[in-house]
Amino acid sequence: MTKSPIILGAVFCLSTSLFIAANSLASDEYDEDTYGPENPIVWNSPVKAAFSHKFHTMEVELECSSCHDELFEMEEGAATANEDFTMAAFKEGKYCGSCHNGDDAFDSSTQCESCHFPPTEKIVFNEPVKTVVFSHDIHVGREELSCESCHKDVFVMEQGHVADSELASSDDPAVKREYLEALHTKFCGTCHDSSQAFGYLTRCTVCHIGVKGYSEMQGGDAKQDAHGKSGH
Ligand code: HEC
Ligand code: HEC
Ligand code: HEC
Ligand code: HEC
Ligand code: HEC
Ligand code: HEC
Repeated sequence: MTKSPIILGAVFCLSTSLFIAANSLASDEYDEDTYGPENPIVWNSPVKAAFSHKFHTMEVELECSSCHDELFEMEEGAATANEDFTMAAFKEGKYCGSCHNGDDAFDSSTQCESCHFPPTEKIVFNEPVKTVVFSHDIHVGREELSCESCHKDVFVMEQGHVADSELASSDDPAVKREYLEALHTKFCGTCHDSSQAFGYLTRCTVCHIGVKGYSEMQGGDAKQDAHGKSGH
């Protein structure tokens, strides 16, 4: 059927009353007493995560009592006040993990993207040396890698975790050297090994964009920054 505006208009006229009924059901009459709060619950710290009542009650048809008050209080932020509101506790069957265990619902140690969000800004490593950039857009969007391919074993889902590690700030030269090696072999290098992706021993400047590249990325005037001192 051709969806010309004229035909759509006619269909709309014929079914106006149906239309209005369906519409009000969809939004106006969402009943928070029946389904819980309409807006998603969002946690911003330490990692942004979201929970939808609508999905769990309207779609999955869970009763309020399957979560309240045994797993969660009816108060946004209450769980955050507990120290054990963590992925590790989910794995032990607490909170979301009471169902997200792979039997009753998908396992919380998979599908990170169902509950979390990849950063849209590039991540910049400035320690110990400027400047390596990492883009979620490229790795998740273009290359279609799953969150778990990095966040299960290689990287913690927290910016600065690698740079802030004790190894990075160690005074022991042997520890420090090991850390610098690990930056390439254990972290980015788990894929950048010349088979899954270009190797860390090649094309240094694709990752190490240097002062000039950083300035360009910021939309600044590269010439001034590059002046005198060459990028790493
Ligand atoms: C699958 C689990 C689950 C189900 C089912 C569920 N809730 Fe919740 N509810 C939560 C979570 C998680 C929170 C946030 C708790 C926190 O932040 O500590 C919450 C919070 C709330 C809050 C407080 C929100 C605020 O803005 O302060 C209300 C009210 C609430 N739920 C009502 C309901 C009602 C009514 C139902 C049944 C229709 C229901 N819930 C079913 C998990 C659930
Ligand atoms: C079913 C939803 C859900 C899934 C799936 C999920 N998370 Fe979480 N995650 C949460 C919630 C809720 C929190 C607690 C609130 C917060 O920290 O913002 C959390 C917290 C975290 C934290 C904070 C610190 C900690 O250790 O708890 C990290 C890191 C994290 N998640 C990483 C991951 C990774 C990596 C994956 C995939 C392997 C994942 N999450 C999958 C819901 C989920
Ligand atoms: C009482 C059981 C129960 C609890 C507790 C629970 N969930 Fe779920 N959840 C389900 C079921 C059942 C599904 C649907 C089956 C599936 O997707 O595996 C689901 C699906 C989801 C989905 C997928 C939604 C979609 O659009 O496909 C997300 C995201 C989610 N849950 C997040 C959470 C978070 C975050 C928590 C903790 C704050 C949580 N759930 C706690 C039972 C639960
Ligand atoms: C190819 C590897 C890779 C993949 C795939 C990946 N990430 Fe990341 N992610 C990183 C690195 C590297 C960091 C920074 C870690 C550090 O600085 O120690 C990071 C950090 C994060 C952070 C913390 C941001 C901040 O500002 O603190 C979040 C949130 C995150 N990732 C979410 C995701 C989600 C969600 C997915 C899947 C949709 C995903 N990531 C997929 C490598 C990856
Ligand atoms: C889970 C595997 C994986 C990890 C870990 C990983 N990458 Fe990648 N990366 C890829 C793949 C796959 C490509 C695309 C193939 C290629 O370019 O060789 C890619 C491409 C790139 C590119 C080229 C982007 C472009 O413009 O084409 C850069 C830069 C890059 N990665 C940097 C990093 C940095 C920095 C880290 C560590 C913080 C890292 N990657 C960790 C898999 C990974
Ligand atoms: C896949 C991305 C990637 C590639 C390719 C790569 N590196 Fe790195 N490198 C990193 C990351 C991430 C760091 C840590 C962050 C930082 O120092 O800015 C780092 C840190 C370093 C450091 C810091 C330690 C110091 O003393 O300055 C040196 C040196 C270094 N890389 C040299 C190289 C050389 C030489 C090459 C090419 C043979 C190379 N890297 C290729 C990602 C990469």
